[in-house]
Amino acid sequence: MIGYLYPLRTYLIIGGSIEKPNPMTADWVVPLSFNPPLLGVAIGKKRHTRKLIQEQRDFVVSVPTIELLKDVWTAGTISGARENKAERMSVTFVPSERVKAPSIKECQANLECRVVNEVETGDHIFFVGEIVNVTHGDGFENEKPAIKEYKFVMHVFSGPNFTWQGDEIIKP
Ligand SMILES: Cc1cc2nc3c(=O)[nH]c(=O)nc-3n(C[C@H](O)[C@H](O)[C@H](O)COP(=O)(O)O)c2cc1C
Repeated sequence: MIGYLYPLRTYLIIGGSIEKPNPMTADWVVPLSFNPPLLGVAIGKKRHTRKLIQEQRDFVVSVPTIELLKDVWTAGTISGARENKAERMSVTFVPSERVKAPSIKECQANLECRVVNEVETGDHIFFVGEIVNVTHGDGFENEKPAIKEYKFVMHVFSGPNFTWQGDEIIKP
């Protein structure tokens, strides 16, 4: 039934450390508060990422572009419990400024989060993260995305079915 909410934007959640990063693809990412700046991510109980976040209490939400789609697919189809998927990916992991979980250089934004709450929601754990630092590329200026400059990733429906936005801005 959740399928009726799609298309949704697609992100990468990075857990672990710069020595051993574990990126996981996630559509279920939601803004929660401006002040303090909070966001939520729903992570399946069976995911390796769920375990890493519960141990380390931090994570990074990275905003990929459509050029990174192969890596997005790798991060979303291989579990870090079984192999070091970061080694299969072409992106560069770089240290974050305020959290242990690393950022991704090629992503248009990296939102560094500390866990302030977690709620069990059925088969997922909903982590509430306070955004303690953000780094970004030239696809953003003053928190505004330059959608003519970069192509964000949108998941149209379950499986390998993605698109990116047009660059038309429509006013109501
Ligand atoms: C496009 C896409 C979106 C996904 N969104 C989520 C999500 O929001 N939450 C989640 O728990 N898993 C999501 N997944 C599945 C995980 O990314 C996948 O199970 C991954 O292999 C988990 O890695 P891990 O075990 O290293 O944490 C998504 C997968 C794809 C391909």
